[in-house]
Amino acid sequence: MNKFDIKTHWESIYKTKSSKEVSWYSPRLEKSLELIQSLNLQNDAHIIDVGGGASTLPDDLINAGFKNISVLDISKEALKTSQERLGKKSGLIQWIEGDVTTASLGPELYDCWHDRAVFHFLTNLEDRQKYIKNLKKALKPQGYALMATFGPNGPLKCSGLEIVRYSAESLQKELGNAFKLEKQFTETHKTPFDTTQEFLYCLFRKC
Ligand SMILES: C[S@@+](CC[C@H](N)C(=O)[O-])C[C@H]1O[C@@H](n2cnc3c(N)ncnc32)[C@H](O)[C@@H]1O
Repeated sequence: MNKFDIKTHWESIYKTKSSKEVSWYSPRLEKSLELIQSLNLQNDAHIIDVGGGASTLPDDLINAGFKNISVLDISKEALKTSQERLGKKSGLIQWIEGDVTTASLGPELYDCWHDRAVFHFLTNLEDRQKYIKNLKKALKPQGYALMATFGPNGPLKCSGLEIVRYSAESLQKELGNAFKLEKQFTETHKTPFDTTQEFLYCLFRKC
């Protein structure tokens, strides 16, 4: 799929389905939130949710007192859903419509990079290299990268697209030695269709 098609694909998903009827929907990204809170970041820390979609993570981060939250997504429609849900609070977030592999981010701006179910769509090596280059550039030294992908027993596809499943070892290998793995665990995600999916959560620190 070329870049134009990827954007068209995601815009069409968010135009035709409610945010609660997609397989990755969760009323709350509990594990992500717990991990972010475990980092004991200052409330002025810069946190970016890449491929944030329409998730409620920004709502929870605002409620937790964070003041510098950015949400990036390739889909304008996804961002619009979150902006409408947040109402006035939407003004507290920096919204970035863009492709994570090519967006101009940072440099060394973010204390925490969060990605749930985005990196695993990058089936092409060149796109993964661009993503990692952007991640390295955008994170502060000692910054955290919280990556959630489908795990070794997760599905082979999501939203009709091929994905790459990861173990903590294969994800570490992909990110390279500029990142140190600090925590890892799997979660059984319950989809709105009463099926389950294995997610792998990895917390990395930029060396
Ligand atoms: C499976 S959804 C996950 C959404 C959200 N992170 C969550 O956990 O609810 C994947 C999201 O990544 C976005 N996305 C896909 N490819 C992207 C890219 N190259 N750059 C930025 N966003 C992308 C999609 O629009 C979609 O919102």
